[in-house]
Formats: sequence, structure tokens, C-alpha cells
Amino acid sequence: MQQHEFDVIVVGGGGAGLRAAIAAAEEGATKGTAQGATLNIAMLSKVYPMRSHTVAAEGGAAAVTRADDTVEAHFADTVAGGDWLAEQGVVDYFVRHAHAELVQMERWGCPWSRQANGDVQVRRFGGMKTERTWFAADKTGFHMLHTLFQTSLKYPAIQRFDEYFVLDLLVNDDRQVQGVLALEISTGALHVLYAKAVIMATGGAGRVFRFNTNGGIVTGDGMAIAYRHGVPLRDMEFVQYHPTGLPGSGILITEASRGEGGVLVNKAGYRYLQDYGLGPETPLGKPENKHMELGPRDKLSQAFWHEQQAGRTGKHGDSDVVYLDLRHLGKAYLQERLPFICELAQSYVNVDPATQLIPIRPAVHYTMGGIATDRYCETAIQGLYAVGECASVGLHGANRLGSNSLTELLVFGRLAGEQAAKQALAGAASAAVDTAARTHIGERCYQRWQQKLSHLCDTQREMRSWVPIKRALVATMEAGCGIYRDEAGLQETLATIHQLQQDAQHIRIGDTSAAYNTDLLQCLELEFCLDVAETICLAALERRESRGAHQRLESAYQARNDAEYLQHSQVFFRANAPAELRWQAVDTHISAPAERLYGGQTAGEGAKDA
Ligand code: FUM
Repeated sequence: MQQHEFDVIVVGGGGAGLRAAIAAAEEGATKGTAQGATLNIAMLSKVYPMRSHTVAAEGGAAAVTRADDTVEAHFADTVAGGDWLAEQGVVDYFVRHAHAELVQMERWGCPWSRQANGDVQVRRFGGMKTERTWFAADKTGFHMLHTLFQTSLKYPAIQRFDEYFVLDLLVNDDRQVQGVLALEISTGALHVLYAKAVIMATGGAGRVFRFNTNGGIVTGDGMAIAYRHGVPLRDMEFVQYHPTGLPGSGILITEASRGEGGVLVNKAGYRYLQDYGLGPETPLGKPENKHMELGPRDKLSQAFWHEQQAGRTGKHGDSDVVYLDLRHLGKAYLQERLPFICELAQSYVNVDPATQLIPIRPAVHYTMGGIATDRYCETAIQGLYAVGECASVGLHGANRLGSNSLTELLVFGRLAGEQAAKQALAGAASAAVDTAARTHIGERCYQRWQQKLSHLCDTQREMRSWVPIKRALVATMEAGCGIYRDEAGLQETLATIHQLQQDAQHIRIGDTSAAYNTDLLQCLELEFCLDVAETICLAALERRESRGAHQRLESAYQARNDAEYLQHSQVFFRANAPAELRWQAVDTHISAPAERLYGGQTAGEGAKDA
């Protein structure tokens, strides 16, 4: 057993993990040095950091910038976008710290796109009622990840463990985190890493669904690990469908395409969104597209579903599609603002957006829910923090607005890193660690996992692949837990998940090699996916109302029901038993719940819930 000692461990090397590691290193370099302590930080990632899913983010990061914009307006858009299920204290903190974080990124080298006069360029994004999305062409995540990664290299306190797959947390009987157990992918060796604070920054769980925009690594690992240790997963029923994925691959066609003036049409060439309470048709043109296509993602994806039901969608291969029209923007403008989209459309659907319509359809993009944390990113386990898409700090409520998440990983990545560093410094200053007790926890965890991995690869057992289970899981989630849901479909999906969890007990991996055993890794990821899927489905079943990205088909549940459901769902793990759901109050102390209005409507007209 290889053992390591650190102060802070960051699990995940994407944007949130990198930002947290940098903040922890800075906190250690300032406060730690003042106290005569140094902080050692480990950052573990199952892939090289530059392959983390942040790299796929395209459209931009939101922060109030223009003189005619306000943080109050950003707050209002975010809270309304989330259908009043966001934690309002958290949103308030977010909007007030967003701008400084984007400026900090610039100082670290992020090449934000600029206007001719040198000012930062901002674009429109769905559900944001003014231009406040900063961008680097349509490769914003790529540039942000590069910036954060190169910045992290400046800090000798950060030691990277690339291609280490974290399997478990070490937690003592007092519910304090003690470290993690990880598998070194290149050798198959297990490592125990001890620390006073651990930050989960492992990303979302979009791969629980068949059709999604996510990289293959987005399998809910950190969510499932924390959940198995008794931390509730919150608001998991809210799964975001991005309205514009490419058919076949699910590759994201950024919302920035619509922010720059692109429009959506059905198979008859009709801008159908005008029929869904998202405002009047506006003339085609670059800055004119203020309504309709720039409604929030939940409503646009729901509108697609209705067009599909009515037979007004076209076909691309075996996919039902509508079309994104960018032709009026012209080739030069498209090459300046949306070069990646032009490349993707050409490569994956053989379409030149300057002259042809791009076929698109909704695809699962983002998990609004995640590991429940308080406003300081700390979970129910002392010293365990969570940040980014794996976390539910409470920013997004029932529907995230596009471009809030890249900023979220900066604002809360910094906060989580600072908090974890403080926790570690406080731990260093207090009573000596009971190393014997801690080693015992590490050894027990190591032995449990060694047995489990040996069992999975035991050639005496009949070979049973994880592949059919994964296929059945993603199919049942799409069929029963998609854009619209009902009791019967959810019950059936939940029963299927329970059966698949049983089936997973009998998996025996075909590849028994130690080095780079991707067969084994995908099996372990599937187990994480199954647990996460159960929480999504249970919360969706129990939320008998429609709110944001969670829409029920039964007539009694088609409206938002604040009287009963202005509450977060929290799902708790139960060993050898079905998960348990409890409700938690929502912080609405700044903005009382109201109707969501888009497209220039005034109260009373109401956005017709499609
Ligand atoms: O459409 C996009 O570029 C996605 C942005 C986001 O999810 O924030």
C-alpha cells in the first residue's frame, strides 16, 4: 500500500479543481507562511487536466460588465431562470464576485474577445436579459482551462497526480474527512492519500443519459462517492437539456450561435418559438435576436418536444431534428465569432453554416443538482468540500442559465480552495492527528477495494460484461426521465435501475491486466452512474409538480406548485436498501417567487408553459 500525506486534496483537474487548487496554494502561501506552516496540495485527476470536460465549454462566462447592466439584474435573471429554486444568498454572492474572477482570468492570460476599442466583448445568452457573457470566440472553456492549468504550474505547493482514479473517501467516526483512496491508472496500484481537507471537483453526470453533449469521462464519480458516505445529493431531478446538440454525436452547438443572431426553425422553415411564450418574432440580424431563441434552455427544449409530438420536426439519420439558421450572419462574421461551430458542423453533419441549415436536437448537457454543500462549499462531512458541476451549492435552482457555470467554477472554486486551506491550517494548528486511527481507516479502505477489484477480475468467475447494463441504463433514463416525465415512466425507470444495480453485482471484467485497464475503469464508472441515476429518478418521481427542467405530463402536476414544492430534494444513500428522499427549505429572502416572464411580456401575460 502506497501512502501519501497532504494538507489539501483536490479531486478533479478541470476548471473548478484547478481554480480551487490555485486558491488553496495562495491561501497557504499567505496565511500559512504567516503561521509558519506550509500547505501541500495534491490534485488528482482521472485524465490529464487539459482533457477535462471544461475544455468542451464553448459559449462563454457571465459577469456584469456593461455600464447599463447591474448585479441586481444578473441576480434577477439567475433566480427567475432557476424558477425560484436557487439559494438566493448564494446567487447574490456569485453575481457580486463574478466580474473580479473574469478580470483575474485575464491577468493570468485568458484571451477574452475584445471590441475594436479594446473593451471586453460580451454577447447575449439564453435567459440573460442583456449582454453579459464574456467569451474567447467559441472556445471559451478551452482557453479558460489552458489559463488555469498554466497558472497552476506556478505553484510548487500543488503536486499533480494525473491519471489517478479516485475510488473512495476516508472518513472517521466523527464524520471528518481523512483523505482518499485512488487507483493509479498506469500501473493498477492503489494509493492512500491522507489530508485535512478534500475538495470534490469531479464534474457532472451527463453520461447517465444516452444522448448528451458530455465527454465520456462525465460519469458522476464524485457525486456517487460522497453520496455513499452519507452526503445527500440535492436537486438531482433537474437535468438540463441543451436545445442544440448535433444529431448522432450529441456534440454541442453553442448557445452563442443564437446569441450572435442565429434562429431556430422547424421543418417548414417556421420560427416556431414564437408560439411558446418566448416573445414576438424579431427581424433577422446580428444584434436583433433578443427574444425567442434567447429564452432559457428548459423552455426551448420543451418547445422542441412539442414540435416533435406535432410532427413538425425534420429527420437527420434516425434523429428528429429542427434547424439552426446562421446563414444571414455571413461567412466572415461566422468565422470571427463562431469558427469552431463552422468546423463542427462541417465535420460532423457535412453542413456549411454560411449556406446551409444545421440540423440540431436537444441533448443532456448539465446536472443542476449535485453534492449538497453550504454556501461555503462544505458538505455534511467536516473538511469535505464540493465545487463545480458535481456540487449543489444552490446557484442554479431548477434550470441553469448558460454561461453561469464557467463563472461558477471560478467564483466557488476560489471559495472552496480558500475554505479548504483554512480548514487544513486550523487542523495543523490544533491537536496532533491521531495517525494510528487514520492509518487504520486507510488500511481498511484499501483492503475493501483490493478485494472488490480482485473479485471483479476473478477469472474463476463467469465473464459478465458491464456493457449491456450501461446500455440499458442510458436507454431507460432517456425513455423514462427525459424532457417530460410521468409517474408510470419514472416508476418503470426506477425499477429498471434497481434491477441493473442487482445485475451489476455479477459483473466480471474480461480484461484483467493491471496497466490502463479501461474495462475496469468503465465498470467502476458504471457503478457510479447507477447510484446517480437512482437519485435523479427518485427525486423526479417525488417532485409532483413542473418546475424548470423538471416537467411532468400529468395534468395535476403540470404547474409549478410552490405551496408544496418550493423545496430542494435531498436524496440519501441507504446501504442495501432503496435511497431515501427528504425535502429542504429554499432561501428566498431577496426575491419572492413570481411568474417567469420572457420575451418582453409584462406580468399577467405569462409565458405560456409549453
Ligand atoms: O451553449 C454553450 O455554449 C454552453 C454554455 C454553458 O453551458 O454554459
